[in-house]
Amino acid sequence: MRKHVGVLISGRGSNLGALIETCKAHDYPAKIVLVVSNVPSAQGLLRAEAALIPALVINHKDFASREEFDAVLDNALNEAGVELLCNAGFMRLHSEGFVAHWRDRHLNIHPSLLPAFRGLHTHPRVLDAGVMITGCTVHFVRAEMDTGPIVAQAAVPVLPGDTPESLGARVLEAEHHLYPHALKLVASGEVRVEGEHVVGTTPIGPQPPLFSPPLDEHFD
Ligand code: GRF
Repeated sequence: MRKHVGVLISGRGSNLGALIETCKAHDYPAKIVLVVSNVPSAQGLLRAEAALIPALVINHKDFASREEFDAVLDNALNEAGVELLCNAGFMRLHSEGFVAHWRDRHLNIHPSLLPAFRGLHTHPRVLDAGVMITGCTVHFVRAEMDTGPIVAQAAVPVLPGDTPESLGARVLEAEHHLYPHALKLVASGEVRVEGEHVVGTTPIGPQPPLFSPPLDEHFD
């Protein structure tokens, strides 16, 4: 049985697009049954529509508190039969009750190698820090932002002359491979949470292709 997945977005939805594409394979262990955006103008909604996936706007501005917004969101997810939840560029913190309810059934993607560079505006901070390797992380959601058991990570080089935009584009490409890979591990039951770590009954498989720039153009 394919796991029924809900995807939460706030904007562009390119990770949603990658998940939609992957879920088209009949042997992929997950199927997207609902997309929810808290922003009415989110471009990602068009991707859901084009793929004929039910999509909803639940505008956080219509609610007096985080808890009220989350209660309506939770209701919509349950009505759609969502078993696994994926945040994909969802720019709202959840209430503690919501996080507890979806504990170990709720993933997020972050554009850094966590626990480094938690929070917003990741790529300028990566460049400021002068690190040479960054990447992206898919992790289970916990109440504190960008924390939780790590499911999968992909490493991406910082290249000479990178701007936040060029680095962000390279990391985003890795994200589009990593999220489908991580969701597969979780949806198939290949990995599970034990304590605050992700463990697998089989070793985590090879990482997906991580980045495309030909390295020999940049390194001697
Ligand atoms: C991605 O970089 C993701 O890691 C972060 O927000 C961005 C969303 O991009 N959480 P998109 O909406 O999936 O294109």
